[in-house]
Parts: sequence; structure tokens; C-alpha cells
Amino acid sequence: MKENHKNINTVYCNSNAWESLKTTLNKLNPSKIFILVDENTKEYCLHLFLSRNLYNSEFEILEILSGEINKNIETCLKLCNQLSEQGADRNSLIINLGGGVITDMGGFVASTFKRGISFVNIPTTLLSMVDASVGGKNGVDLGMLKNQIGIIRNPEMVLIDTEFLKTLANNQITSGYSEMLKHGLIHSKKYWNEVKAIDETNTEALEDLLWKSVLIKNEVITEDPFEKGIRKTLNYGHTLGHAIESYFLENTSQKTLLHGEAVAIGMILATYISNKLAYFPKETLNDISFHILKKFQKNTFDDSAINEIINLLKYDKKNDKGKILFVLLEDIGVPKINCEVPNPLILEAFDFYKNYK
Ligand code: GLY
Repeated sequence: MKENHKNINTVYCNSNAWESLKTTLNKLNPSKIFILVDENTKEYCLHLFLSRNLYNSEFEILEILSGEINKNIETCLKLCNQLSEQGADRNSLIINLGGGVITDMGGFVASTFKRGISFVNIPTTLLSMVDASVGGKNGVDLGMLKNQIGIIRNPEMVLIDTEFLKTLANNQITSGYSEMLKHGLIHSKKYWNEVKAIDETNTEALEDLLWKSVLIKNEVITEDPFEKGIRKTLNYGHTLGHAIESYFLENTSQKTLLHGEAVAIGMILATYISNKLAYFPKETLNDISFHILKKFQKNTFDDSAINEIINLLKYDKKNDKGKILFVLLEDIGVPKINCEVPNPLILEAFDFYKNYK
């Protein structure tokens, strides 16, 4: 790490992060500490956490199965039952050790169990480091519809240790990198140029930019914690991205698409639409499509898939009075929220994606 202290509000990265967690635990003095893991973080990340000798009493382990498919209310009920059986009270603490599924769901359980107990997020994937663990969005899917049930409530602390990135497969890194590209698109040409130029699989190259992404996200959510305005810009590429992700979750015969992979497609589509509706420059649309498709393999969508995806847009959380509202860009760093987009233009955007070479 080139820079030593990276912390903002309650988010700590690397050098002083573990010490800060120790201080937080001592201050909270919880009656019991539960660590939520999945089979992957139990095997690859838990030992790093335990080796830090953070607290003078035992940790109880809560384990769930990995994958978006398990991010539902049934898993939450199982977790609440386990907490209850294992004697959790209102002064207990949950430490969420994992990716976005763990932090989203662990935060939701912590926010509702006994009307709310404290929690700490330790994101272990790039996606959860730069996005899911910051900003207090907790929740679960409803069937295949993404994040339909949830609450905005902040953890006591977020600890980012980039050592965890070494436990990830490349496609997991690239999925998180997609959110960093999004930060570039909504924030500034300078950051877009920096992010698009790195090799995301090189942890050293990634570290400083990862922190810049956290700062960008933090700036946005501090200004608008409950997504009344500017926070919507963090959904760039997500309107169609979430619908594409739901479509792939629903159609199990299709390959599995990671969140960032779906958002990458969503960003190309949203940028095409931005060119048509918000004067976004054509040559920049080509630059963005080129850089995204250099990192993310193209997917095929037939007409029935596209129709199903368009149909899923009616569940988007930004919708208002039945209107489907997109975030578009007038230029890189100049987002525009609450834009209505006619369906024929969405079809055109898919054509652009399919034919882009
Ligand atoms: N992932 C978008 C947000 O936190 O608002």
C-alpha cells in the first residue's frame, strides 16, 4: 500500500483497519459476536480474521450457502432462528464476512432481529469493497427480483483488507471492477481514464483506485443517504443490469451471470440510450463500449429474452407512478436522473450491443 491511512467516516482500509475494529469491539462490548460466513469465506477468509485476535471471547459462526440464489427471506429466517437458539440478545453483534450477498443479508438480519442489533461489514470481494458494503443498503431478493425487501441502515464499521482480494477468482474481480468503471462514468473523465487503463487483476494497481471508488461512493451517499436524488446516479447501468441479472437467475438453463457482468451490459445499453436522448457524444459511446467489451465477454440475447428483460423493468426500485426511470449521462461525469425511455429505444440499444464489433 502506498498510502498508509485510508479511512473515512466508519470505513477503514488496510493499515489501521484491524486496530480500529479492535477499538470498535471493545467500545461496543457485545454480549456475543456472531460471524456470518458462506462456505467460501469460511474456507478462505475466516482464518485471516481469527488470526487477528481481536476480542477476548469466543465468536459464534453462522454459515449460509453462497450465491445470489440464496439471498432471500427464507435464509434470513433460518439465520434469525439460529441467532435466537444461540442466545443472541439486543447487545449482540454480527460481523458479516463475505461478498455482497453476505453483507446485504447479514445487514438485513441485524437490522430486523429484535428490532435491530449492531453489525460490522468485512467485505471480501472487490464488488462488496467498492459498492455493497458502503452506504447502508441491506436487503434480499423477492423470488428472482433483486433487492425488493430491505432497509437502509449503516454498520458500526466497514473494514476493507485488500488481502482478501487474493482469495478471489478473476471473474469475481472483474465483476467488482465493473462498479469501478461505473464510478468513473458518473464521476469524471479523469477517473474514467484512470480506471479503464488498469489491469484489474493486478492487486497493486487496483488498491489505490479501489479507495478512490470508496471515496466517490461515500461522497454521494453522504449527500443523499436515502436515494432521493443524486444517489440514484449510483444506479447507472443498473436499471437494465438488474433486469438482465434477474433474467439469468430465472432462466437456469442460461449461464450464471455475476452482478458486475450484468451491470457492464447495462452500462453499454444506458450509454447508447444516453447518446440518443441526452446528447452523449458518439465517440465516447464507442470508447466506453470498446473498453467494457475488452474486459467482459459478449452475451447473446434473442428477441424473447429481450422482451422478458424489458418486462422485468416494471419492478425497478427507481420507478415512480408506473414510470420506468433511467439514469442517463449527458457526458462522462454529467449524470441525469429520472429519464423516461421508450421501449423501442431499449430494443435499439440491444441491437447496438449485439452488433458492436
Ligand atoms: N449500489 C448503489 C447504492 O448503494 O446506492
